[in-house]
Amino acid sequence: MGDFVRVAGVGDIPDPGARVVEVDDEVIALFHVEGAYYAIDDVCTHDGGPLASGELVGHKVACPRHGARFDIRTGAALSMPAVRATRAHDVRIEGGEVWVRLRTGPMVEGPPSAMPTARPVAAAPQPLPITAATGGGGAEKTPSGTAPASPLPSPAAVDAGPLCEDRVREMLRLVKDPELFVNIVDLGLIYGVTLTPSTDSPGRHHVAIDMTMTSPACPAGPQMIGDAKRAVGSHPEVAAVEVRIVMDPPWTPDRRTDDARDQLGIF
Ligand code: FES
Repeated sequence: MGDFVRVAGVGDIPDPGARVVEVDDEVIALFHVEGAYYAIDDVCTHDGGPLASGELVGHKVACPRHGARFDIRTGAALSMPAVRATRAHDVRIEGGEVWVRLRTGPMVEGPPSAMPTARPVAAAPQPLPITAATGGGGAEKTPSGTAPASPLPSPAAVDAGPLCEDRVREMLRLVKDPELFVNIVDLGLIYGVTLTPSTDSPGRHHVAIDMTMTSPACPAGPQMIGDAKRAVGSHPEVAAVEVRIVMDPPWTPDRRTDDARDQLGIF
């Protein structure tokens, strides 16, 4: 653990208010609320959003990028899409000045307190090589063989009726985000499903799925893409499945269904 570093004078930051400060070459969000000071990493654990510039309500700050909320006293993640705490640091007031000492680990660990606690740990993160990350959604270029396969419920879990868009969405409900344990349809990750008659395989269809991620670097992306292909590809009327990654418009928490909100227990 390092030494305390002077970061501001008492009274330099309005109450309530926040400022970005630097401590030992790290960027820290310093908050002043109800006469006390708090320091956390100025980094949202979802995708790096700057927390000092987020909306501050009481002791909670909302990431300006996708709305995840954090407790500025402990760094705890309080709402999606963040599921990990950011680091909180030691603060002391001395000689009319505010001093901060960095901690090496988070003050709290794990998911938001309202999240289910008995959850298996997700597979080792892999970067998602998105090559068509803006509107229009080019074809997904991830080699399907690189994504770790996860156990899907049997396709028989979905009523084996004629192929249609609703049937595809039902099959996609078999695929869960491995960090949140909610299916990708209820999370609001599926932007569109298009069925086109196959020219190579009469009577069957090419299925194109427009899918987004909660962040461009979502480590679970390759796994969810592979699972979506396997789930939909199991239908006898499907000739091929294409997953197109679309990041515009960006995903926001309000895309979740009520079912997803109920499962997560957070809003
Ligand atoms: S970067 Fe903070 S919620 Fe997405």
